[in-house]
Amino acid sequence: MLMATTADELREEVRRRYAESARTVTEGNSGDCGCGSGSCCADGESDAGKFGEALYDAEQRGGLPEAATLASLGCGNPTAVAELRDGETVLDLGSGGGMDVILSAKRVGPTGIAYGLDMTDEMLALARTNAAEAGTTNVHFLKGVIEQVPLPAESVDVVISNCVINLSVDKPAVLTEMARVLKPGGRIGVSDVVAEDRLSPDERAERGSFVGCIAGALSKGEYEAGLEAAGFEQVSVEFTHQVADGMHGAIVKAVKTSEPKRMGLPAVEAATRAGCC
Ligand SMILES: C[S@@+](CC[C@H](N)C(=O)[O-])C[C@H]1O[C@@H](n2cnc3c(N)ncnc32)[C@H](O)[C@@H]1O
Repeated sequence: MLMATTADELREEVRRRYAESARTVTEGNSGDCGCGSGSCCADGESDAGKFGEALYDAEQRGGLPEAATLASLGCGNPTAVAELRDGETVLDLGSGGGMDVILSAKRVGPTGIAYGLDMTDEMLALARTNAAEAGTTNVHFLKGVIEQVPLPAESVDVVISNCVINLSVDKPAVLTEMARVLKPGGRIGVSDVVAEDRLSPDERAERGSFVGCIAGALSKGEYEAGLEAAGFEQVSVEFTHQVADGMHGAIVKAVKTSEPKRMGLPAVEAATRAGCC
């Protein structure tokens, strides 16, 4: 099989893989083709408890359509850490089947708005169906890429994301876009796969595939440096559970300062070049 060599090819491989996953759920099966899944993405070991709906408590899952929970492919539960408030505007980067958008919409209430952004048509269709079935009206699903968010500057209070930033072929652009769309003082609550700093990009790639959310993971230090360079403060990256040797599900939190440093993101750029494309 030919290896994907360019960023465009890699992004297309990601899109194809998650379109397949959405079709599987739409046909009534579990979405077993996503992050960490042994069946088609990662290394074949059991991933139960590391990815997906098991990372949400029963109360959260109970109020959702079955297809929304089946389609859950994340590596954490960003809605549990984002401290959403009534009336706020939330943006979920890489919203997949819509579970975190629906949960966020409930948390911000009828005066708030929850946006989901995804590049995969099949995921957007599934998410819209799930939101309608859940009876949520304050949700909007947008088609686009997380490297170029189709929302105005300073229009969002909270950015969440669940196991998607590791899949980006241009991580500095994603961090810059998060800062652009957030209002000053706005915050992020992100779940992602993150590597220990001791692992080189090659060592991360030995532990799993790019589409399986492993090879493209930033290290903790790269994440922290990238967020600070993009204009965030109070940055924290906390490991929650191991998903491979030296690689973890992590909660990433930060607050947008009013004065971004507007400097390069050398560590993140280097990792992106070496690790994924
Ligand atoms: C691992 S799934 C996670 C979905 C969802 N956040 C969840 O927790 O179930 C990754 C999702 O991100 C989307 N995605 C990946 N890269 C993207 C990009 N660069 N721009 C927009 N969406 C992207 C995929 O289409 C897919 O729906």
